[in-house]
Amino acid sequence: MCGIVGYIGKRDVAPLLLEGLQRLEYRGYDSAGIAIQGKPAKGAQSAGLKIAKAKGRVRDLEAKLPKRFAGTTGIAHTRWATHGAPNDINAHPHPDADGKVAVVHNGIIDNAADLRAKLAADGVELVSDTDSEALAHLIGRSQAPTLEEKVRHALAMVEGTYGIAVLHADFPDRIVVARNGSPVVLGIGEKEMFVASDVAALVSHTRQVVTLDDGEMATLKADDYRTYTTEGSRTSTSPTTVEWEAESYDMGGHDTYMHKEIHEQVDAVDRVLRGRIDDRFSTVHLGGLNLDAREARGVRRVKILGCGSAYHTGLIGAQLIEELARIPADAEPASEFRYRNPVVDPDTLYIAVSQSGETYDTLAAVQELKRKGARVLGVVNVVGSAIARETDGGVYVHAGPEVCVVSTKCFTNTAVAFALLALHLGRIRDLSVADGKRIIAGLRKLPEQIAEVLRGEEEIKKLAAEYANAKSMMFVGRVRGYPVAREASLKLKEVSYVHAEAYPASELKHGPLALIEPEVPTVAVLPDDDLLEKNRATLEEIKARSGRILAVAHREQEKADHTIVVPRNEVELDPILMGIPLQLLAYHTALALGRDIDKPRNLAKSVTVE
Ligand code: F6R
Repeated sequence: MCGIVGYIGKRDVAPLLLEGLQRLEYRGYDSAGIAIQGKPAKGAQSAGLKIAKAKGRVRDLEAKLPKRFAGTTGIAHTRWATHGAPNDINAHPHPDADGKVAVVHNGIIDNAADLRAKLAADGVELVSDTDSEALAHLIGRSQAPTLEEKVRHALAMVEGTYGIAVLHADFPDRIVVARNGSPVVLGIGEKEMFVASDVAALVSHTRQVVTLDDGEMATLKADDYRTYTTEGSRTSTSPTTVEWEAESYDMGGHDTYMHKEIHEQVDAVDRVLRGRIDDRFSTVHLGGLNLDAREARGVRRVKILGCGSAYHTGLIGAQLIEELARIPADAEPASEFRYRNPVVDPDTLYIAVSQSGETYDTLAAVQELKRKGARVLGVVNVVGSAIARETDGGVYVHAGPEVCVVSTKCFTNTAVAFALLALHLGRIRDLSVADGKRIIAGLRKLPEQIAEVLRGEEEIKKLAAEYANAKSMMFVGRVRGYPVAREASLKLKEVSYVHAEAYPASELKHGPLALIEPEVPTVAVLPDDDLLEKNRATLEEIKARSGRILAVAHREQEKADHTIVVPRNEVELDPILMGIPLQLLAYHTALALGRDIDKPRNLAKSVTVE
C-alpha cells in the first residue's frame, strides 16, 4: 500500500529518493516525506536529521523541499493512509521527541493504541494520529547501545505488521531495516546500498537484490550490508538478480500505465507460453510446480484463492481445471476464506493467485493452510514475493511489472497460466492427445488474436463515449462468460467510478432485472458456445424492459444495440480474449469522464494490510 525507499552511499540523496518515490507512487499517493542525515561540518561526526513532509503527491513534496537539503544517506515514504488523515504531520518519516530518530513504516501496528497510551503516560507528546509514530519514540527512548538493538527492543513491543527503515543521528553511517509482513528489499550497489518496499524503486540503479524474510532485519552501510533475525542471529543471504529491466517500469510512449499494460498483453501472453509447450506429448512443462504425476492423479479437488481480479482469474482457472482435467474445482475470495475456519482436506490442492504475491489476505490464507498441512501452489507474477516463497511450488505468470493500480495484463496472463496448469493436469489425467493438441493450438493463436482485438480500440473508444453517461451498468455472462463479466464490472468501477453490477445471466430474472431501464445499459458476454441460445433469451428479456445492450460476442448480435466482435478460439479459452475489449471499454470510459486513470480514487496497488 505505502512505499519505502532508502539510500546510503556517496550520491546526493534527495533527488535519488524523490525518483524512487515517484516509482512507488502507485503504492500510495496521499502524502510523502523524506528524512536525511544532514552533511556534517568539517570535523563533526553528525549534523542531525532533516525531515521534509507534504500532503499530496511526490511532486508536492519536491516543491516543498528546502534549498539546503543535502546529504548522502536518507529514507523516504509515500503514504496511503490507514491510521490518521492524510496530512503533513501524519506523513512519514516520523521523528522521536528529540528529533534524533526517523522512521518510515509500512503495515499496521495492532497494539498502537496501547503503545501510544503508555508513551503518553510517560510524558511523551505524540504529535501525529498514526500508529507508526509510536515506533519512532520507542526506538528513541531505548537505552540500548547500538541502533540495531534499539530497533530490536522497540519491535519486541510491537504487535502487527511492518516493513521499516530507520535513521538515527547518532549512527550516521547506517540505515537499519526490518520486515514482518510488509516487503523489504535491499538493493546492492558499488559502494552504495538501497532499500525499498518494491524493486520498482531500485531497478534503475541496481538489479542485485536481497529480499528480507519475515522476522529479518538488516544494517546497510555504504559499502556493506548484513542481515540477521530480530533475535540477533546472523542470516545468510546472497543477492539475486531481478529479471525485470528498468525500462519496463517506464510509460513507453503511452499516456497512462493502464493503456501501456493493456497493449503489452500481446507480448506478455507470448512470454507466459514461451518454453512451456511440449508438442510431443501435447502438454506443457511447468518447471516449478513441484507436483509429480502420481500426486497430480491423487488430487480430488482444487480450491483457488485470491482477491479482486486475482479471484476472478481463479474463477476462470476453476472452470478450466474442471473442463480440461475433470477435477472438481472452485474459487473463493481469500479474504473470506481465511476468516471462516475452513475444513482443510488433504486431497485438495489449494492454489493461491496473486499478481504482487504480497496481498495480505491471500498470504494469510496460505499461511493458515500451510499450518494445517495443506499443499498450496502459487500462481504469482512477482518472482520471490512472499506468496511465491510460502507456497510449495507453482506457476509464474511472467506478465512483467504491473504498475497501474488496476490489473489488466496480469489478469490475462494469469488466466493463460491457469489454462497451462489445467492442460498439464488434464494430460496427466484423462484429457486426450487430440484435445491437448487443440488447446495448444488455441493458446498459440492468442497473441495474434489479442493484437486483433487491440486493433479495434478506436471503435471501442466510440462505444465508451456512448455509454459513459450511464447511471449504472449491468454486466452479465453465463458460465465461461460470468468471470469475464465480473472482472469487466470491477474494472469499470475502479477507473471510471461508474456504478456497475455483475450477475450470471441466468440470475437476472431472479431480481436484478428490476434495475434495467434505458439509463442502465447491459454489457453481455456472449461466447459462441452451447449456451448462446440461452444467452440470447436473456437479451430478449433486457430488450423487453427497454434496456440498451452492448454485446461482446463472436458474431454480430441482432438483439444488441452494439456488438464488439472478438475472434474465435477454442471455447475453453474464450474468457481470456473476451476480457480484453472490456478493459479498453473501462479505460476509455474513464478517459471520457476525465478520471486519473493510473491513480484511481481511494485505491492503491498491493493491499499488504488487513
Ligand atoms: C483490480 C485489482 C485488485 C487486485 C487485488 C489482488 O484491478 O488490481 O483487485 O487484483 O487487490 O492483488 P494481487 O493480485 O496483487 O494479490
